Amino acid sequence: MNSSITRGFASDNNAGIHPIVLDAIQQANVGHVVAYGDDVYTKNAEIAFRKYFADGIDVYFVLTGTGANVLSLASLTKSINSVVCASTSHINVDECGAPEKFCNCKLLTVETPDGKLTPDAVKKHLHGFGFEHHAQPGVISISQSTEMGTVYTPGEIKALSELAKEYGLYLHADGARIANAAVSLDLGFREFTVEAGVDVLSFGGTKNGMMFGEAVVFFNRELAGDFRYYRKQSTQLLSKMRFIGAQFTAYLESNIWYENAQHANNMAQMLYNSVKDLSGVQITQKVQSNAVFAIIPERIIKPLMEQYFFYMWDESRNEVRWMTSFDTTEEDIEKFTSLLKRLLNR
Ligand SMILES: Cc1ncc(COP(=O)(O)O)c(C=O)c1O
Repeated sequence: MNSSITRGFASDNNAGIHPIVLDAIQQANVGHVVAYGDDVYTKNAEIAFRKYFADGIDVYFVLTGTGANVLSLASLTKSINSVVCASTSHINVDECGAPEKFCNCKLLTVETPDGKLTPDAVKKHLHGFGFEHHAQPGVISISQSTEMGTVYTPGEIKALSELAKEYGLYLHADGARIANAAVSLDLGFREFTVEAGVDVLSFGGTKNGMMFGEAVVFFNRELAGDFRYYRKQSTQLLSKMRFIGAQFTAYLESNIWYENAQHANNMAQMLYNSVKDLSGVQITQKVQSNAVFAIIPERIIKPLMEQYFFYMWDESRNEVRWMTSFDTTEEDIEKFTSLLKRLLNR
């Protein structure tokens, strides 16, 4: 990687493509194959997913994480249903209302300090069953890792899936950053998804070194029902599907999913350790994946942002989010923190 090129801390989406993935795209760029997923690259990617999860899964590839979430939820709901999610969840805050538009469902939000749902918090929404004036709770949706950079333990997910089963709901997981969660937990994907009772998973690749492409993984094939039609209807069926398949196969089989996420997480730890004791910096979330949340003095935000792109998280309290990526370097962190220190000491 060329370290002379500026890398900010805005989002792992701002990073480029891992060379192994780019090479896989290049290698798939030969001859003609049947379009829309009936090709050997897509089949190989499906096989790679089955190795990580189980033979009995169904996996479908889509273009975006929003598409994966919307289609996952659409598979689990009717328009009479509601979806319980964290108020900070991507489906609630950052998808321009797509889940509501495409699923015609109501989102019921839960305020959570760390982006994680708990059975007690979810239970507040689990009422009105059989009452025709209420949307019928149909799905609990979690993000792993969360939008706050925190990570659910398998036990915490299991508790939510048990609650879901008790009330006849499904459990969906938005795994846009599932690799960061797996590394953080030091577990395989299976232990905190299918084995913890997740029914449908949005599996992300873009934020961790792929060019584009996400997967929707069904642990219960019956739920996949009309997925193929919904995928096309919602514009998520890529004609040149081989290029998602080729990426996912390389991503999963070369182990870069692990190495990239491990590196991004390590960089977040390094950033956290470099700033946590600075006077004027208050860390607001546990650093469990590749994000650091901090309150910093208002006067330094603009000058810091002029040099490094990152997002304001909560303007009312000067809370910012710094995200690391698979291509963040130690030098990036050193330069960033030395500027931060200079500004704090001014
Ligand atoms: C937690 C989470 N889920 C889903 C998405 C959606 O990804 P996309 O922008 O590809 O639709 C994002 C994107 O930032 C995300 O952070």
